[in-house]
Amino acid sequence: MTTRKRILTGVRPTGPLHLGHYVGALENWLRLQNDYECFFLIADYQALSDHIEEIDRIRQSVIEVTLDWLAIGLDPQKNAFVIQSYVPEHAELTMLLSFITPLGRLQRNPTLKSEMEKLRETDLTVGFFNYPVSQIADILLPKAHLVPVGEDQLPHIEMTRDIAGKFNRTYGNVFPEPQAMVGRVGRLVGTDGQAKMSKSLGNCIYLGDDEASVTKRVMSMYTDPTRLRATDPGHVEGNPVFMYHDAFNKNLDEVKDLKERYVVGRVGDVEVKKKLAKALNDFLGPIHERREHYKKHMDDVHAALLDGTRRAKKVAEQTMQEVRDAMRISKSPA
Ligand code: TRP
Repeated sequence: MTTRKRILTGVRPTGPLHLGHYVGALENWLRLQNDYECFFLIADYQALSDHIEEIDRIRQSVIEVTLDWLAIGLDPQKNAFVIQSYVPEHAELTMLLSFITPLGRLQRNPTLKSEMEKLRETDLTVGFFNYPVSQIADILLPKAHLVPVGEDQLPHIEMTRDIAGKFNRTYGNVFPEPQAMVGRVGRLVGTDGQAKMSKSLGNCIYLGDDEASVTKRVMSMYTDPTRLRATDPGHVEGNPVFMYHDAFNKNLDEVKDLKERYVVGRVGDVEVKKKLAKALNDFLGPIHERREHYKKHMDDVHAALLDGTRRAKKVAEQTMQEVRDAMRISKSPA
């Protein structure tokens, strides 16, 4: 019997994962996977909440995400990789929790609010509005204690604590109130300098990218717009190229030297970028190779998913039994 505390965390499978995912969350998952019993959820239902016309792409992305996870070194034997839609208890608990979630609580959720503003009115469905409740169900089903996520997910974890507390007070103690944990870089800027690395903005470097694509992306990165010549003093602060150096270049002396020369106008952007490309490729090279390896061993990839999902399903069934018992909806009325 395991006595490890539990983690549930996850991602929407809308495409392959990128550097922002890595420093925002994945790095923590790697570190924590030995100390916690982890459920890594591929939230395909949640992905459908705003991609209902792209079901095939979401199905394909389930595999892309799994390849990324295996490539960075998440261990599917110690921990469970879970496909959300294969565990119908997620839908059942979502419905029950929606009855104790005040509408206003959802309306005030800042992450949901800003996502809703970006959707056209006809795309804004009831299901999308309700996705934070389904995320609460994701976290509560395995009774997670800890949820390592990117910064934008914090409002959802806060809601999870509220709703878990309310459930426990109303029906009896079933759920722990989980803590959130944010990665080293809560939100990584895009290669174009926009606030966030995001597939829809086309400003990503993906974990599976090969050397040539990484170098190309880096060489065209947005940098200090006030600097016209290499001899102009430049700005390090707020400069995406240096933010990436800080996040990924292990050679701290090199980064320090580049910064010192940059601010006095004694290094060109090309050199700074070339060194960044090298640092990124040193980091991503082994990930790319392992990803290619797994692509040739798809049986292992599918086995990891099915095995993890089976384990999660058992845990989910147990929790749902406790939920129904606590709510006294498990027996037929007398
Ligand atoms: N909302 C997360 C994302 O956008 C994915 C997710 C779904 C999740 N369920 C979760 C994250 C539960 C943490 C815990 O990527």
